[in-house]
Amino acid sequence: GTVIQEFGTGFCAYDGTVDANNGGFSGAGFTNTDNVLGSAIEWQFTVTSADNYPLRWRYANGGDTARGGRLLLNNASIEEIAFSPTSSWTSWSSDGTSVWLSAGTYRARLEATTSSGLGNIDYFAI
Ligand code: GCU
Ligand code: CA
Repeated sequence: GTVIQEFGTGFCAYDGTVDANNGGFSGAGFTNTDNVLGSAIEWQFTVTSADNYPLRWRYANGGDTARGGRLLLNNASIEEIAFSPTSSWTSWSSDGTSVWLSAGTYRARLEATTSSGLGNIDYFAI
């Protein structure tokens, strides 16, 4: 599949704030989740045909250590993610994976697996 939808500041739900203080993001801002275990962002998308779909995200982690996260679709975990350090909060990196999806509507959830919260999230795209 190609990019069918891109989510920047338009997440359905997020634990934290939408900020614009650390430059280099695209669009109007980025999501800064609270630095606690289980902090999450959620959004919803629909695919109309079965296919292998690429998922991409852009993030920043200005800390010294990777921040762990987990990507869930309809409450099933599909990927463990390490938000590796990007050297500063204004340096952004892209990462991604792909997943086979049958036609349907999905609730995606990205949640922190450590008390550090997620890296700052510029966008998620499918
Ligand atoms: C800094 C940074 C935030 C980030 C936070 C964190 O305060 O400016 O954008 O979210 O660190 O450690 O999560
Ligand atoms: Ca944060």
